[in-house]
Amino acid sequence: PQGATVGEFAELLGVNSSEIIKKLFMLGQVLTVTQTMTDELIELIADDMGRKVRVVSPEEEYAVVYNDTEADLKPRPPVVTVMGHVDHGKTSLLDAIRHTGVAAGEAGGITQHIGASVVNINGRQITFIDTPGHEAFTAMRARGAQVTDVIVLVVAADDGVMPQTIEAINHAKAAKVPIVVAVNKIDKPGAQPDRVRQELVEYGVIPEEWGGQNMFVNVSAKQKLGIDDLLETIILQADVLELKANPDALASGFVIEANLDKGRGPVATVLVQRGTLKPGDAVVAGTSHGRVRALVNPRGEHAKEARPSDPVEILGLSSVPTAGDEFRVFEDERDARKLAEERALRARLAAQEAKSHMSLDDLFNRI
Ligand code: GTP
Ligand code: MG
Repeated sequence: PQGATVGEFAELLGVNSSEIIKKLFMLGQVLTVTQTMTDELIELIADDMGRKVRVVSPEEEYAVVYNDTEADLKPRPPVVTVMGHVDHGKTSLLDAIRHTGVAAGEAGGITQHIGASVVNINGRQITFIDTPGHEAFTAMRARGAQVTDVIVLVVAADDGVMPQTIEAINHAKAAKVPIVVAVNKIDKPGAQPDRVRQELVEYGVIPEEWGGQNMFVNVSAKQKLGIDDLLETIILQADVLELKANPDALASGFVIEANLDKGRGPVATVLVQRGTLKPGDAVVAGTSHGRVRALVNPRGEHAKEARPSDPVEILGLSSVPTAGDEFRVFEDERDARKLAEERALRARLAAQEAKSHMSLDDLFNRI
């Protein structure tokens, strides 16, 4: 990367640019506000001002290796994403699942205050991610993150395989995530659940009873048929995966969604993947950072902690992160801020680079 301008760097550190110019001058560098500083100068000046800034590549940053031993790893609940073609009944199915959970009298059941919900089936938790932004998922996958453990592919029995069905299959394959097929709307007169099975064979999604790898369940979200069967199937599929994570570590995971709440400020819904997140933790999420002021669970209650596979809202961030951003807790709040600043700097550099390319193109266009 080609450094940031003096002005941008000053803004990042929250100081006056004249202060930076002075320090540069003392190093024998005469630069104006709009001139670009090299990475070395950035790190040098930041260091001189008691701030550790290191310009790192995204590859370097995300190549964090967590050395969890087998003994550190504890079973964790599955994270399930519901996907499928428009109007095939994804939301209805989640509603039916929620209803079942509540009706079963399980502690908490599920609710959907946030973009994720938690169901308890006979003491077993399943975390559902609702209608995820495809962009967020693509961003997470690009960073090698596995967010979902199981994909529930909803296919309407009266409509069959459609473009977004195929898209979801491709997504699952790219992410190497097993697919459980929910053949929905079986109550409809034109329903042909076996035809759905036949159609899916072409895309490599083959029922177990036909010698394939995929579990299929016939359901009607509307009439609440087959819902328990579907939940049991999801648990069965999850058990095969032997999902584990280290809960005794500083938390990390991904931002599922985020927004600016009028009363509460920036709110990020995150999925904890490793460690345990607690109020008071120093956290960085994308280019945002801060101390966790409060955690809010999917039931809308304040939570004392969030463990692996738990979705939770974080309050107390400096700004609104982007869905798909990584979040991470640091022992020291200064480290969280440092990483946020590095990421912000990198984002600016990328934007600046794009801009300079553009003006060059403009120039050539004019010649
Ligand atoms: P998008 O979010 O727009 O992609 O749709 P969706 O997949 O979430 O579908 P949604 O749950 O909104 O359902 C679409 C329509 O299908 C609604 O009118 C539902 O009432 C209807 N529907 C959903 N499930 C069933 C079912 O099992 N049987 C019948 N007969 N209708 C259903
Ligand atoms: Mg929907």
